[in-house]
Amino acid sequence: MDYKIKHYKRPKQELVKQIVDTAKCLTTEWFTPDVLDEIKRDLLFHDVICIDVRGEVLSFLIFTSWEGAIQITLMGTKLDYRGKGLGSKLIEYLFVYVKKLGFNRVSLLTVD
Ligand SMILES: CC(C)(COP(=O)(O)OP(=O)(O)OC[C@H]1O[C@@H](n2cnc3c(N)ncnc32)[C@H](O)[C@@H]1OP(=O)(O)O)[C@@H](O)C(=O)NCCC(=O)NCCS
Repeated sequence: MDYKIKHYKRPKQELVKQIVDTAKCLTTEWFTPDVLDEIKRDLLFHDVICIDVRGEVLSFLIFTSWEGAIQITLMGTKLDYRGKGLGSKLIEYLFVYVKKLGFNRVSLLTVD
C-alpha cells in the first residue's frame, strides 16, 4: 500500500472532520458516542499522526504529554484496513519521534 505518515500539530478543521469520521465507524463497538465530540476538543491541544492514502485518513493516533510521559489518548484504524500493520506503523513513528525529544514512557488507556 502506498501510504504516507503525516504528523499534525493543531490540525485544521478539515482534517479533524476526517479523523472524527474515521472514529465514527469504531463507535459503539470500541468508542462511546461522546468520543466524537471529545476528539474535536482534544485536537485543539493534542498532536495527531495519520496514515493517509491519497488524502484519505485510514488510521490515526492522537497523543499528548502528561507529567513528563507520552499519553496516547486515542487511536483507530478504519475497519477495512485493520490488521494490515497501519497501527503498528503509527506506534513506531511515535516511538522514534518522542525518544528523540527525551521521552522514555508511553502509555495508552483502554477498556476491557
Ligand atoms: C487497535 C487498532 C488501532 C490497531 O490498528 P491496526 O491498524 O489494526 O494495527 P495493526 O494491523 O498494526 O495490528 C497491531 C496488533 O494489534 C492487535 N490488536 C488489535 N486490536 C486488539 C485488541 N483489541 N486486543 C488485542 N490486540 C489487538 C492485532 O491483532 C495486531 O497484533 P499482531 O501484530 O500480533 O497480529 C485497531 O484495531 C482499532 O482501531 N481498534 C479499535 C479502537 C481501539 O481499540 N483503539 C485503542 C484504544 S484508544
